[in-house]
Amino acid sequence: MLNNDITIEQIESWLRETDEQKLKQLWDKADAVRKANVGDAVHLRGLIEVSNYCVRQCTYCGLASDNKDMTRYRMNADEIFACAQEAASYGYGTVVMQAGEDYGIESQWLADIVKRIKDNLPLAVTLSMGERPFEDLQHWRSAGADRYLLRFETSDTKLYKLIHPPLPRQTTDRFEILHHLKQLGYETGSGVMIGIPGQTFTTLAKDIHTFRKYDMDMVGVGPYIANPLTPLEQNGLNHEIAAKDQVKNTEMMTYKVIALTRLVCPESNIPSTTALATINKKSGRELGLSRGANVVMPNVTPVEYRTKYEIYPGKACLNETAKQCQGCLAARIASIGRTIGTGYGSRN
Ligand code: 5AD
Ligand code: FES
Repeated sequence: MLNNDITIEQIESWLRETDEQKLKQLWDKADAVRKANVGDAVHLRGLIEVSNYCVRQCTYCGLASDNKDMTRYRMNADEIFACAQEAASYGYGTVVMQAGEDYGIESQWLADIVKRIKDNLPLAVTLSMGERPFEDLQHWRSAGADRYLLRFETSDTKLYKLIHPPLPRQTTDRFEILHHLKQLGYETGSGVMIGIPGQTFTTLAKDIHTFRKYDMDMVGVGPYIANPLTPLEQNGLNHEIAAKDQVKNTEMMTYKVIALTRLVCPESNIPSTTALATINKKSGRELGLSRGANVVMPNVTPVEYRTKYEIYPGKACLNETAKQCQGCLAARIASIGRTIGTGYGSRN
């Protein structure tokens, strides 16, 4: 049975399903729930990759501070504002400013940029700046930021610790931060990677259930993409921590997770992510949108910077300009009979 009261056990059994006929029922149900709850509009969020500096050491991520093979950059305020202007000129309703956890991004500096965008452009502002202190989150919210994204990456606390070495003398709890964000009045988004080494089917089913438990306004999921420049891939850690019941980081698994997320969170904004588009450049975006997703995050970062924001290799749209992505996505969305959203595209 497929309904919103789907249990963790039922989610897990769908994750294990391989019968194409049965899976077709899942895609159809997710698409119907998407249509009934958030409609046919696909909301576009212009992604600005503001800085690739990061103090953290997440073992799967190319931005981790130990990666010396990366040229670091931080955009300046005028460059960021120009990207926001370009996003607004394409009719996008939101900009997402994303960076590594970069304390070179000072609280007041970012607050001023948020305020400048909110005062001058018809845009919602989403931030994705990592585990910043509560005061910073509060400051940016007061400056006008509307939304914040912080993926919890896995609901398995042991696996979380294994792949997220803490900063010295500091422990953080992403669920506590997500709770704070909600209290501050941010629309709050989270998500996980699919097929990260150590992830079992049971863990992934719990992750999906957790999206609903925390009533996430936005949920972003994408396949784990091995990055040879990370500790996880460099010294065999991936094999060492792989679970007996390891989930594979496949395209099919990604669609299952998108569809199941739509069933448990009918009203959430769910993107068809860049990581999915990376493993199927031809039709990943469209298939994500047809199996539960209702958002796309076109990159508006200048090409000179986006090529340096290398979380994982082979990222989709690496050498395309913001203008090219805009045209490309408009055509893709039209090809599946959907429309482009207007306005902020907030959660209803
Ligand atoms: N493959 C796929 N996604 C990744 N992320 C980080 N590293 C990788 C990788 N190697 C995701 C994380 C993070 C988001 C910004 O990118 O889930 O929250
Ligand atoms: Fe960037 Fe298609 S979305 S080229």
